[in-house]
Amino acid sequence: MPDTTPRPLPLARRCPLDPPEEYTSLRAECPVSPLALPDGNVGWLVSGFDEVAAALVDPAVSAKRKFQTNVSPVTLTPEEFVASGFGDSFIGMDAPEHTRYRKMLTGQFTVRRLKALAPRIEQIVTDHLDVLVEKGPPAELVRDFTQPVPSLVICELLGMPYADSAEFERNVDVMMRLERSKDELLGAMTAMGSYMHELVRTKRANPDDGLISGLIRDTPSDGVPLTDEELAGIGNLLMIAGYATTANMITMGTLALLTHREQWDALRADPALVENGVEEILRYLSVAPFGLPRTAKEDTEIGGQRIRAGDPIVLSIEAANRDPGTFEDPDSFDVTRKRQRHVGFAYGAHQCLGQQLARLELGIVFGELVRRLPQLRLTVPLEDVPMRDDMQIYGAHELPVTW
Ligand code: HEM
Repeated sequence: MPDTTPRPLPLARRCPLDPPEEYTSLRAECPVSPLALPDGNVGWLVSGFDEVAAALVDPAVSAKRKFQTNVSPVTLTPEEFVASGFGDSFIGMDAPEHTRYRKMLTGQFTVRRLKALAPRIEQIVTDHLDVLVEKGPPAELVRDFTQPVPSLVICELLGMPYADSAEFERNVDVMMRLERSKDELLGAMTAMGSYMHELVRTKRANPDDGLISGLIRDTPSDGVPLTDEELAGIGNLLMIAGYATTANMITMGTLALLTHREQWDALRADPALVENGVEEILRYLSVAPFGLPRTAKEDTEIGGQRIRAGDPIVLSIEAANRDPGTFEDPDSFDVTRKRQRHVGFAYGAHQCLGQQLARLELGIVFGELVRRLPQLRLTVPLEDVPMRDDMQIYGAHELPVTW
């Protein structure tokens, strides 16, 4: 008999690099299991690959988030949210509203823009590694590398001055904490809202090659130009979705490679393996301990389980990407693994818009890291690395290293 007691998120993790152990039995015995929500309601926790994949494309499943999965009791009223100027995020919208934004953004994430960004990313990575090499070991890699690099890449993408990155890193950090006061949350969101509105005004007056200017310049297919409010919402979504995820994926990838030395050595020996290694990092590791939130908008069935309209649903991409029914030997980290479809970027209507940028960035980062610091190693055991168990986006707070 499977244990169907509603589980609260996050489940306890034994190894910092692995999904919580409980997923192993849940996935095998009850891949769509009852989920205990902090407000006392019960939803569904989906942990099997096929079930997550089905839910991602189920038209009865809405991307609207009508519940909270984290333990923080702090939420803003709709009025406070609007007053913050942070702007709506289309990640939580459904068609046709979502389709409008998605089309406009897809038109900005072009091969041309990625090609133009590549040398800038290489420069950012090289500059940071130069400083590390010059200062010499030891170092703290999150502060000096894994966090500033993706933050400056977002600046390049949106057309923001580098000098503004530290403030937005601090504000995103406050937003991502599980425990923060209402004032702290409101303060961070208001700061991001005003910053983005100001950036939009600047780009309207002085357009550049960045994405915000691109969105202002290109008339949407419906002929209705985006308002400052909408542009601010898009800018802030890109900061949140594109910075904290990538920074922590770089941190986690580094941690996984350093604790699986033979994998680090394989990348060192054959730089052509990096692209494949990045795909394995994206499958093996996850920065989303709270999964992808969804709500059933009609009665439906996922993996044979009846779900009623209005039920909250959480799709655990970290559990799905370790499903032994889909991946051979899923818990082994193998940079030579044959590339296979995973759900690290989800798929369906909301699949990650920045996935090609993230792949490009991770490829440059890991290619250069193993080349420039081949002797890199942790100065503390894996169990002493301070993990981000207190954050909505998982990763490590610090990576103490030497070489
Ligand atoms: C390794 C880094 C990244 C990971 C693991 C990641 C993962 C994801 C996932 C799982 C989703 C789906 C969310 C859902 O369905 O609820 C998503 C959506 C999204 N991501 Fe990423 N992402 C990464 C990097 C980026 C970057 C660099 C950007 C852009 C700068 C970006 C922008 C977005 C946007 C805008 C969405 C919402 C798409 C939509 O709703 O249509 N992401 N990402």
